[in-house]
Amino acid sequence: MSEILEALFRRRAVKAFEPVEIPQVLREQILDAARHAPSSFNTQPYRFFWVESPPRKATAAKLCLGQMPAATASALVVAVADIGSLAATSQAQLEWMRRSHAKVRDYERTAKIGRILFMLGPFGIFGAVEWAIFRLVNLWKTIGMPPVFRQDLLKWAMKSTSLACENLMIAAEALGLNTCPMEGFDGCRLSRFLGLSTR
Ligand SMILES: Cc1cc2nc3c(=O)[nH]c(=O)nc-3n(C[C@H](O)[C@H](O)[C@H](O)COP(=O)(O)O)c2cc1C
Repeated sequence: MSEILEALFRRRAVKAFEPVEIPQVLREQILDAARHAPSSFNTQPYRFFWVESPPRKATAAKLCLGQMPAATASALVVAVADIGSLAATSQAQLEWMRRSHAKVRDYERTAKIGRILFMLGPFGIFGAVEWAIFRLVNLWKTIGMPPVFRQDLLKWAMKSTSLACENLMIAAEALGLNTCPMEGFDGCRLSRFLGLSTR
């Protein structure tokens, strides 16, 4: 069986961990695997926070409702769907492509379309206008509906974030580290702890 399939079938949500030292090289490989997951428009709309120092880990574990996997893990990785990073990511990708002399024209076009599609505007006004236009066009044409409201955009970002999380867990398993995905946590307090906006 291929190594990837082996890791995939071996992975289990482990509920209590033995302490281990996670070398930096493994950490980099795990995070690199996460960001190699496919993402909508290749926007990688997420951030990963690696929490490893004992005091920070203890605080974060409490915010995970004191659950055993969080309390015993040697590192916690908080995955955050980040819809605020889209403009900066597409700009950075464009600059990278210019530096590597890649064909940028197609990408520039896609990035521009992405920026327009995902722009909510003040009080979500652009999103509402976009929604009306798309619904109207949809009356006679087959089209996909982009995420036009903040909640849609968050859901949209969470899909790509989840794919990255799965990559992360399979990579960790392949490198000999167990994991447990968790959504049982206090999102507001955890966001504040990480210095993120809670809006
Ligand atoms: C989105 C998501 C949220 C989860 N949240 C928790 C959690 O808060 N605490 C926990 O102990 N396990 C959590 N789990 C782990 C599941 O309990 C576990 O994946 C499931 O029972 C299947 O077991 P397996 O992953 O070993 O196949 C979560 C899993 C997923 C996918």
